[in-house]
Amino acid sequence: MSKRPIGIFDSGVGGTSIWKEINVLLPNENTIYLADSKHAPYGSKGESIITELSVKNTELLIDKGCKLIVVACNTATTNAIKTLRESYHIPFIGIEPAIKPAALQTKTKAVGILATKGTLSSALFYKTTDLFARNIRVIEQIGEGIVPLIESGEIRSEEMKSLLNLYLKPMLDAHIDYLVLGCSHYPYLTPLLLKLLPPHVKIIDSGEAVARQTKAVLERQNLLNTQITQTNNQFYSNGNPEIMAKLLGNVFNVDYLDF
Ligand code: DGL
Repeated sequence: MSKRPIGIFDSGVGGTSIWKEINVLLPNENTIYLADSKHAPYGSKGESIITELSVKNTELLIDKGCKLIVVACNTATTNAIKTLRESYHIPFIGIEPAIKPAALQTKTKAVGILATKGTLSSALFYKTTDLFARNIRVIEQIGEGIVPLIESGEIRSEEMKSLLNLYLKPMLDAHIDYLVLGCSHYPYLTPLLLKLLPPHVKIIDSGEAVARQTKAVLERQNLLNTQITQTNNQFYSNGNPEIMAKLLGNVFNVDYLDF
């Protein structure tokens, strides 16, 4: 049982940023990653379609023998994880924007959050913000257009730079000192964001927290792979495998799979 893989899915290549954190913390684990790039972006879709797509990805990972599933997508987590947990007897780990740590640490009492429309309009996001950030200003910004650019490999293009400058302006005008990256695609923008943001603004994403939570749940359920053998990491994309392979440093095979 414990040698079975961890399944990870996202609407595309973005969740590989989460896979990397999991691989650092849990190097003995076998993994299967699904990039549903054909249906990206999820962020502009409604809750029922996001849930349908999340169910499809989950069933494929369960068919492939996964012991736990990481929903490496804020949009799918905030819209569909409740249904997934109610429908399947397998542990699910989700990812949500790191509003809580930003709210606890901000000195200017203003934090920015960049996420998809699907995440920012979800009931779960509303609940988290209401719980942890009631006394601070949260400047929300939909990252319209960012995911398609990342999906086509344009991480540092002029178009990306202009979009980010546009989205950061109201946050900087509000004197944020934390920027929360509420989409698993966005950590790939950190190098560019560091150039665009003034040095006092800190960037927070949820990747490490997801990896820690994955480890904790595997430990608790006695599912950790304790055998030190060569691990098997499989990557599947129904979009362009080459773009994903590049994000993974061209050291893993990414196979095309129609799903
Ligand atoms: N990477 C996803 C997220 O974390 C989804 C982005 C999208 O497909 O719109 O929200």
